[in-house]
Amino acid sequence: MSSESTRSLPKPDPIIDQFVIDPDVVYLNHGSFGACPKSVLEAQVIHSLKAERELVRFYVQDAWSKIDRSRIALSCVVQCNPQDLVFVHNATTGVATVLENLDLKPGDELLVTNCEYQACLNNFERIAKRTGAKVVVADIPWPIEDDVDLVEAVHSKVTDRTKIALLSLITSSTGIRFPVEVLIPSLKDRGVETLLDAAHGPGCVPMNISAWGAAYTTGNAHKWLCAPKGAAFLHVRSDLQDGFTPLVVSNDALKLEEASAKTNRTPFMHAFDYAGTDDVSMYLTIADSIEWLEAAHPDGIDGVMERNRTMCLEARRLICDRLGVEPPLSESMIGPLATIDLPSGNMTAPEIKQRLLDDYRIQVPVWGTPAGTVSVRISVQLYNSMEQYEYLADALCAILKR
Ligand SMILES: Cc1ncc(COP(=O)(O)O)c(C=O)c1O
Repeated sequence: MSSESTRSLPKPDPIIDQFVIDPDVVYLNHGSFGACPKSVLEAQVIHSLKAERELVRFYVQDAWSKIDRSRIALSCVVQCNPQDLVFVHNATTGVATVLENLDLKPGDELLVTNCEYQACLNNFERIAKRTGAKVVVADIPWPIEDDVDLVEAVHSKVTDRTKIALLSLITSSTGIRFPVEVLIPSLKDRGVETLLDAAHGPGCVPMNISAWGAAYTTGNAHKWLCAPKGAAFLHVRSDLQDGFTPLVVSNDALKLEEASAKTNRTPFMHAFDYAGTDDVSMYLTIADSIEWLEAAHPDGIDGVMERNRTMCLEARRLICDRLGVEPPLSESMIGPLATIDLPSGNMTAPEIKQRLLDDYRIQVPVWGTPAGTVSVRISVQLYNSMEQYEYLADALCAILKR
């Protein structure tokens, strides 16, 4: 720490002792890379060790019931039929898998918003280049008053050539909770299916995949469910599963019916559950991370989500007040992630971010918004405390001379 900041680091929530987070860093970026508790990492090691005892038995027999344990646990969190849920290593893979399964032709339009995650957009651009389809961007205003403007911005870009719409449940850099319960059905009424990017989904905000009705939903367990890295899911609506394949097909691809009858799962599930010699320990551990999170709050995962959102709103109010800026979104539009425009003067986003890290040991993203302003995005997870956001507010005031 530089001499500029002589005070000691703020205390996180005591639950941080269950994590391996560096005590010399004020970690306010669960949104980018979610921390995993030690006991959950240990559970993953135990799954791996058990597999290593008898690898053939594991890969051809024991793995199925263990994968299903996580499948069932996760389906309760995201509210869907477990049979419609498969595992992939991250949300970006989920998006790429869906795109590979679409029958795209020159002139087809792929609708995205200006708030989608760059890796997902890159996959959209790549498939568009290969197929002759076109990526069409709906510009979500920033700041934004309410859902109506957002819905209108998306609808305004729908044409009769629109093949699919990519929507985030919570946008990465701006932290907007999209009104998916309105958008998914209204797009469907216009003949457009949705690919929902719920990277910030399970454990972040309440989800109901069955009720929302998206054609495809992908999301991460390794963010807000605190699962080990490489643990994500893809939900494919039952009417779209026939012939839907993973990015890489494996041994049983040409005899899926026969193979899946032996493993007592649908061909869709079998195609994803058996991907050859792949590490599935992170998938098996999703059930353990859900158990950990359920036990971490008297009201279970619902209580965790409520606690994190409440603290996020309080932290956002505090930082906005201290900096003398208006919050860019109404409270109803955010979860445990919040973006705040900074009165940055002549300072660039990378400069502010680096000062926060070097002088105050704060790990938090500072980046641009769709309006070209500079913003800070805070995340709130169980190990964070209000004291940490007060410290961030002090640091921002000092750096930005407020
Ligand atoms: C909205 C959104 N979508 C997709 C992703 C990509 O997640 P992953 O890196 O796990 O593929 C992120 C990552 O932060 C994200 O915020």
